[in-house]
Amino acid sequence: MTPETFGLIKLLRYDAYTTYDKICNELEIDRKRTKDLLKYLSNLQYEIEEHPSLGVRIISSPDLLLPEFVCSGLHTRLFGKKIHYYKKIGSTNDVALKLSDEEGSLVITEFQSKGRGRFGRKWVSTESTAILASLILNHKLKVEGLQKITLLCALSINEVMRKVGLSSLIKWPNDIVVGGRKICGILTEANSRCVVCGFGVNVNQSEFPSELTDEATSIRIETQREHSRIIILQQILEQFENNYFEFLQSGFHHFLEKIKDYSFSLGKRVSVHTGKKVLKGEVLDFDERGRLVLRKDGGGIRKIFATSMVSIQNQSIAQHSDRKGGN
Ligand code: BTN
Repeated sequence: MTPETFGLIKLLRYDAYTTYDKICNELEIDRKRTKDLLKYLSNLQYEIEEHPSLGVRIISSPDLLLPEFVCSGLHTRLFGKKIHYYKKIGSTNDVALKLSDEEGSLVITEFQSKGRGRFGRKWVSTESTAILASLILNHKLKVEGLQKITLLCALSINEVMRKVGLSSLIKWPNDIVVGGRKICGILTEANSRCVVCGFGVNVNQSEFPSELTDEATSIRIETQREHSRIIILQQILEQFENNYFEFLQSGFHHFLEKIKDYSFSLGKRVSVHTGKKVLKGEVLDFDERGRLVLRKDGGGIRKIFATSMVSIQNQSIAQHSDRKGGN
């Protein structure tokens, strides 16, 4: 979207007409260009009323994650200060890794054609219903371990879900669930230049394909009403930034208790696929490196990295990103 288009959105109002003269003067464009921009906005699902003498006004606007809207009223120092917005993209993580922009830059999109989850699983979402975003962080964080960033992000998003009124929980290592159904997935990756923390939050989906209804949910399904993705994204960025600065200053151990308080996995029986073996046991704890502490059946303790696949036993919840056509 061009600065001219943003300029036009800012000029248009719901409660009054903006004259063509005002638009042309303020944006320094002619009538024809104004018409072209208005057509472009219509294509973006803006409903616009044009009156030959009074001018133009907005009837309704889509809940698009346009940078101008996300930035306006965003109370952060770093996160989201620069936003790369795409109407459609392969994967926000892929773009963020290539951009390797400055710390805090955000890549967001309305639709991903190649959204990815852990273990190469697909992450699919209908257009303009979810928050699909990747935050670029300092490459030095790799030393800390990506698992901590994933859990910090999960904790932050979980705190926002709680503010919305949901009884959400963190499912180690990278999901947020409500009533056992996944509402958010996080994928943290890195290259030599940056760490990228990507998150997908199901906000306004009213339903999921039948094969996913037991596994996926959205804020809208849980609260029975639509939500502004802009406001939820702003809250996530603010909460995550607060936690992030505290993490840089005081370390990760500081967040462990909160993560445990909101844990879906703690105390559950799990199977851990380590590559060669399948270990069974109970989730006893999480450690200061973000690892899962497993009490193995038959005795002994094992610390599990997030690179292992962990499934909770006697529970149908799967990482629903592994199914075609679902998150
Ligand atoms: C998982 O469930 O394994 C993690 C899913 C992460 C999905 C998000 S959506 C935004 C970002 N871009 C991607 O391709 N993946 C993450």
